[in-house]
Amino acid sequence: INLNVSATGGNASSPLMYGLMFEDINHSGDGGIYAELIQNRAFQGSTEYPSTLEPWVPTGGAFFTLQNTSIPLSKALPTSISVAPSSNSTNGTIGLLNPGWWGIEVKPQKYTGSFWVLGAYKGKFTVSLQSDLADDVFASLDLPSKSESGKWVEHKFELEPSVAAPNSNNTFILEFDASAGALNFNLISLFPPTYNDRPNGNRPDLMDALKDLNPSFFRIPGGNNIEGDSYHYPWRWNETLGPLAERPGRPGTWGYENTDGLGLVEYLNWCTDLSITPVLAVWAGMYLGDEADHILTAAELAPWVDDTLDELEFILGPSSSTFGALRTSLGYREPWDLKYVEIGNEDNLYDNGASTYASYRFSMFYDAISAVYPELNIVSSAGDYSAVGGSGTNNPSSTDFHIYTRPDYFVTQFGKFDNASREHKTLVGEYACVQGNLDEVVGVDWDLPRVPWPTWVGAVSEAVWSLGIERNGDAVLGMSYAPGFQNLDSYEWAPDLISFTADPSQTVLSTSHYVINLLSNNRYNATVPVVSDSDFGPAYWVAGVSEPGSYTFKTAIYNATEAVPFSVSFEGVDEGAKGTLSVLSAPDGLSNNALEDGVVVDVVKKDVKELVAGVGGSFEFELGNYNVAVLTT
Ligand code: AHR
Repeated sequence: INLNVSATGGNASSPLMYGLMFEDINHSGDGGIYAELIQNRAFQGSTEYPSTLEPWVPTGGAFFTLQNTSIPLSKALPTSISVAPSSNSTNGTIGLLNPGWWGIEVKPQKYTGSFWVLGAYKGKFTVSLQSDLADDVFASLDLPSKSESGKWVEHKFELEPSVAAPNSNNTFILEFDASAGALNFNLISLFPPTYNDRPNGNRPDLMDALKDLNPSFFRIPGGNNIEGDSYHYPWRWNETLGPLAERPGRPGTWGYENTDGLGLVEYLNWCTDLSITPVLAVWAGMYLGDEADHILTAAELAPWVDDTLDELEFILGPSSSTFGALRTSLGYREPWDLKYVEIGNEDNLYDNGASTYASYRFSMFYDAISAVYPELNIVSSAGDYSAVGGSGTNNPSSTDFHIYTRPDYFVTQFGKFDNASREHKTLVGEYACVQGNLDEVVGVDWDLPRVPWPTWVGAVSEAVWSLGIERNGDAVLGMSYAPGFQNLDSYEWAPDLISFTADPSQTVLSTSHYVINLLSNNRYNATVPVVSDSDFGPAYWVAGVSEPGSYTFKTAIYNATEAVPFSVSFEGVDEGAKGTLSVLSAPDGLSNNALEDGVVVDVVKKDVKELVAGVGGSFEFELGNYNVAVLTT
């Protein structure tokens, strides 16, 4: 293939181009990137998921009951655990054991903990980190009780093991003298060091895995999880703020209670920490699950539109405003940097032909938001142009398009955005290759099995799709793979970008992660035209330039029957110029990165070669089937 790349004449690329989408699915938040180590720390519940004692285990023959005491810890956390001696309590101490979120990583580092107690007790509490067989105690601390009758009292502590545990099969134990009788406990919390040392923060290793992707935007808080699987339980920004004792939690969409410890402020801090732009989703009046056909009328929706304006004032308003003052009271005087607001999630999928989203719901939000914040880019979640606002103005709406599909189909979508609207731009807020190629199936058939891990052929097809998007960087704002995370001990959705357990050495960066890493870390400011003697297929490509002479050429090879020779020349680049070629490959299309018997298997290989331009300034190289490559000059 002979390719001549021009120096000018393309389109400016979106600076967002590669980003992240996050929702609490697959225990990606609670039990995942949110670093809290204690599972069910506050016995949160709802009619959907009543409070539970799971996974707490009594020690010393203690007897547990869940109680709504006459004096609650807070309105948000009314339920606590009563820990009482029983006839089996023989050794003088009783207590409660938490196995963490399927384990606790123990290292020689500082763990910061706290718990609240109700009941008179003058003795001491002992907190410890132990192996789950309790034959190894890695750290233990006695702290004097400050407990009083008729009052909830907080106890804070630090634990610092001097050695690392050999694995993550460890537990946290809190004990006291059985002679105290029954005591009530709530909000029992333990954090390891977090990313950027944020209190109530995130797991550093998983944040690093995101940072490696050089993301530019962060679509939060969903996905389906913003909608709630049952009536009255959408994600509510103002119930995710402030002290943990003030956060009631909610039934998430994905089959488990969300603590909301990872709340709006934490998401925005996450953006600050990774220097990325939030794309804030707001609920648009549609429930999922059994209530999927209950869509709010305009009158029912109006208070939610007002609620969105309150949320935006919390994020963007001056500290003199009502909700700006609330932000300031939480320690954030300066507004955050928010430019994109998305209305709902996948709101075209459930309308059964009569789109209430297009007829009134989107416009209610669009009109109200743009009246107060004319500079905000408002994104419809319809994925098409059925709901648009601001046509012909300098602030037209965008739309969020999602695609889950098969490798062959992804490749056919290389040109999807060639004729897309340049006025109403598209965000590809979710994409992933979820199945193998199956005869006669176009797109994705949700009744057929999905691949358990992203495959290499899938990742290459995503690369082709991504190059198609890059070629249209003036029409597409950016793209984010979904879902981002999978807790291998409890998940609802595979395949996923990053899979993990409680043990950071078991984190699997998928084949898709490798592709995004390569493409996202090689950005450019504008595309440039490429003249070729061959059509697209089996090679697909895009070229861009950041500054004169500094080119980036990207290509992916899909379904080649033999090696593909390239001769690529760049306008203004002469014989003898240097280039760097980075090539990703894997043993075959069905290869995947995975965790097998507790060991990470990583099949993707990255080769980096220095090239020198030959006669006429062209770079000559050969790529094999299912190679993804980037050449920079
Ligand atoms: O990413 C998983 C789910 O797929 C999201 O919650 C939803 O938006 C989509 O249907």
